[in-house]
Amino acid sequence: MNILLKKFIQNPLKICTVKASTNLSAKKIANLINNTENNNVIEIGGGTGALTQFVKNKDVTIIERDYELSEILKTNYPQYTIKNQCGVSYLKEYKNEYGLLASIPLIDKELKTELINCINDHISKNQIKWIVNLGYQYFDPLKGINFKNKKRYITLKSFPLEMIWHYF
Ligand SMILES: C[S@@+](CC[C@H](N)C(=O)[O-])C[C@H]1O[C@@H](n2cnc3c(N)ncnc32)[C@H](O)[C@@H]1O
Repeated sequence: MNILLKKFIQNPLKICTVKASTNLSAKKIANLINNTENNNVIEIGGGTGALTQFVKNKDVTIIERDYELSEILKTNYPQYTIKNQCGVSYLKEYKNEYGLLASIPLIDKELKTELINCINDHISKNQIKWIVNLGYQYFDPLKGINFKNKKRYITLKSFPLEMIWHYF
């Protein structure tokens, strides 16, 4: 059984998927990220690292709340910094410039509000440069974020359909 399916059975609301995201989405995300100017990328909700695999020449910190998944990430990505904690708590303490790759479930309204407030604070300080969010939401999953531009990309050959939201 794949590890995300196992985790989903144990705690569906914290994992929100039964499989890793597709390579099609991961490649699209890498295209969006690899040519950006800032070097610092924070990924929240790394899972097994499916979205990280095509990101190149960036200093990546992956925050994964599940201990077992964070240990897998440490094995798969020894070149990156892996932290086993809540991504939102991590961002709240973060002081440097960064771009954010996110794929955490946004079902918990309190956590989602905390994330949006934290990002808007970082936008006002010119600390966060862009966000790429992968999920299954057709409508803006981070409505209320103060970036001027947002684009949605749909990975058509995925099931369920993966939606990539790019804010910049
Ligand atoms: C939908 S999976 C995405 C996994 C992987 N990025 C992918 O696309 O295949 C969501 C992941 O976010 C993690 N997660 C959920 N809430 C989190 C939080 N608050 N902080 C960090 N990770 C979280 C889960 O443990 C899970 O690995």
